Amino acid sequence: ITAEKAGFDHFMLKEIHEQPKAYRDTMGSRLSADGRSVVLNELNMSKEDIQAISRIHIVACGTAYHAGLIGKNVIEKLARIPVETDVASEYRYRTPIITKDTLVIVVSQSGETADTLAALREAKRCGARVLAITNVVGSSAAREADDVITTWAGPEIAVASTKAYTSQLIAFYLLGLYLAQTLGTVSADEIAETIAGLRKLPEQVEAILKDSSAIESYAKQIAEHEDLFFIGRGLDYAVALEGSLKLKEISYIHSEAYAAGELKHGTLALIEEGIPVIALAIQSDLFEKTVSNIKEVKARGANVFGIAAEGEEELAKSVDQVFYVPKTLDLLSPALSVVPLQLLSYYASLALGHDVDKPRNLAKSVTVE
Ligand code: G6P
Repeated sequence: ITAEKAGFDHFMLKEIHEQPKAYRDTMGSRLSADGRSVVLNELNMSKEDIQAISRIHIVACGTAYHAGLIGKNVIEKLARIPVETDVASEYRYRTPIITKDTLVIVVSQSGETADTLAALREAKRCGARVLAITNVVGSSAAREADDVITTWAGPEIAVASTKAYTSQLIAFYLLGLYLAQTLGTVSADEIAETIAGLRKLPEQVEAILKDSSAIESYAKQIAEHEDLFFIGRGLDYAVALEGSLKLKEISYIHSEAYAAGELKHGTLALIEEGIPVIALAIQSDLFEKTVSNIKEVKARGANVFGIAAEGEEELAKSVDQVFYVPKTLDLLSPALSVVPLQLLSYYASLALGHDVDKPRNLAKSVTVE
């Protein structure tokens, strides 16, 4: 068993450390050698098919749904196609508008989640084109979809998803860029700049993984609490949702992720002396706004752990502790900022003596509706 874990104590930690490789494998030959375009030969979509897409629905469950929230941002920003992201168990029951010019993207590590497959089938029944982003070659989702983008994360054993999620993000970056280059919605230089950013991500994750001692000691602090909050704006909010889910799944500590600007409309009432708040302040265009939201919780006694991009030393003045992640494009930052949150849940679960890889009540793949 230890051999399978390659010297790590748990599959989850091993899989967190496999992320640089998962990023490299998922990008693989899908980036042109000159770094100026994305090559997605596996797609059967012609230029005309892509031009005909009037809307995109991303449908998934759990962590894959959180990847889909980032995917919405990425595709809308790069390809300017309207995107909605839905939880699969809700999608079919809200009479979504699915037409033949709708592209439905199902995201599923296993490719076997019952709700996601049901959504896929409903989308096909309505005449939509279906693209599956999955980690399992030959899975039901891969077989039934019109197009497939495989994430090359390798087998994921821990119930809490880490490298599958981040590989899904990479798949969305590739897809967003591919749609953009086909539609001409982004300049060639911006595509090249984003590809250069993507290529740097693996070594930037390695840099984060080199020293997790600050995260480990903060995890011990939060392990003594029953409730905490994650806040952020824009893409940071989507990452906050995933950080909160991860923590709930394996540490059983209750947490809530909140769009930082929305706090004052309710959740601020729960902020009291000493409550931990994990604040992501990575998005540069929203930095000032996020800092002012951080001040709102600080003023009510919260103990704030900030996560910022290197170079944003300003944040240190407004928080109790700060963790820096390497600088990348705002759009790509979730692929870095989620890593300290994965480690935080891992070490919190460990501190509480829980079964990290097999949390209570949860299954790796849910094949019943
Ligand atoms: C289960 C797992 C989650 C996962 C979700 C969707 O709930 O515990 O980690 O995100 O299913 O799984 P999928 O294989 O469709 O990505």
